[in-house]
Parts: sequence; structure tokens; C-alpha cells
Amino acid sequence: MPPGMRLVTQRLVLRPPEPGDLDALHAILRDPRATRYWSTPPHAAIERTREWLDTTLATRPHEGEDFIVELDGLAVGKVGLYRFPEIGFIFHPDVWGQGIASEALAPVLERAFAVHGLAQVTADVDPRNAASLALLNRHGFRETHRAARTWLIGEEWCDSVYLALARP
Ligand SMILES: CC(C)(COP(=O)(O)OP(=O)(O)OC[C@H]1O[C@@H](n2cnc3c(N)ncnc32)[C@H](O)[C@@H]1OP(=O)(O)O)[C@@H](O)C(=O)NCCC(=O)NCCS
Repeated sequence: MPPGMRLVTQRLVLRPPEPGDLDALHAILRDPRATRYWSTPPHAAIERTREWLDTTLATRPHEGEDFIVELDGLAVGKVGLYRFPEIGFIFHPDVWGQGIASEALAPVLERAFAVHGLAQVTADVDPRNAASLALLNRHGFRETHRAARTWLIGEEWCDSVYLALARP
């Protein structure tokens, strides 16, 4: 995305990830509540988050587009098409339940269709992840199919619900 780009909502600023986001992202990714249905176990070491952030920073514009979400100037989460056309999001548990994720998702979806011209946005969610499913349903995503034992997270096999939102 263009350097310095910002998406602004009523309460939030969405901006490109930066190396300085490491501590804030580690505070989220080391929290077992946040990673309960994530694609990895909690990040015990900050190096694990550094690798994850490095991958995000290395994403090229034609591959995906992730945003850090700031609330009152603090990085509280991330949302974006980390690999086109798949959406991903995670927020610090301290800010859950205030409509923050929903508010952040709206301009990202709008941009997915209006700027990136995607035919659809997809999601891969653990069927037990009620919050994520509710968030996606609220934005019009509908289940397309399911698969069992798609992710081995630590020692636990997890399943997937696949959802899609077609271009309006
Ligand atoms: C999923 C997540 C982003 C939701 O963030 P949030 O800011 O609390 O979500 P919002 O407040 O915007 O709520 C969005 C919708 O989800 C619902 N919701 C939120 N938490 C819920 C919960 N624990 N159980 C059921 N529904 C829930 C809200 O009621 C709302 O639905 P509504 O608009 O129909 O009322 C957050 O829980 C999170 O970061 N989870 C960990 C990371 C994760 O699992 N990411 C997804 C991987 S696929």
C-alpha cells in the first residue's frame, strides 16, 4: 500500500505495519485468549512474533495487505487480507466486545472490492470460534464448506469452517 496510507473510522486508524509494532503485537500473540483459535499456539518468545511481523512486512502489494489497528494511538490489533483473498484479524482481549473488530473490518472489505477488485473475500475459521463467526456473519460472510483436521496447533487438531463474501 502507499507509504503513509491511513484508513480512518469513527474510533480507529488503520495503517501499514511497522517494525516498531513488535511489542504491541507480541502482547496480543503471547496471550492464550487471543490465540485460542489462531493458526499458532501463543508466542512464548518475542522472536516468534518478530518472525511473524517480518513475514507481514515482507508481503508484497500484489500478495496481500494487512493493517495495524490503532485505538487512541495504541496498536490494539491487526486486520487485513494477509494473502489475497483471505481475511485475517486478531485484537487484544482488552478491547474485545466494543465493536472494534467490526468497525475495523468495514473499510478493509470495502477496499478489497473497490480498490483491489477481488471477486470475493474468504475466511477460514475454527468452528468453535463463535466471536469470529459472528463478526463475519455480521458483515455478510456465508459458510461455503467445512473440513476436519485442517490445522495441527501444538498437539491439537482443529477443524475449519470456510466462509466467503462475494463482491457486492
Ligand atoms: C474475533 C475478534 C476479532 C472479535 O473482536 P471484537 O472487537 O470483540 O468483535 P466486535 O465487538 O466487533 O463484535 C463483532 C460481532 O461478534 C460478536 N461477538 C463478539 N464476541 C463474541 C463472543 N465471544 N461470542 C459470540 N459472539 C461474539 C458481537 O456480538 C458482534 O456481533 P453483532 O454485530 O451481531 O452484535 C476477537 O475476539 C479476537 O481477536 N479473537 C482472537 C483472534 C481470532 O480468533 N481471530 C480470528 C481467526 S479466524
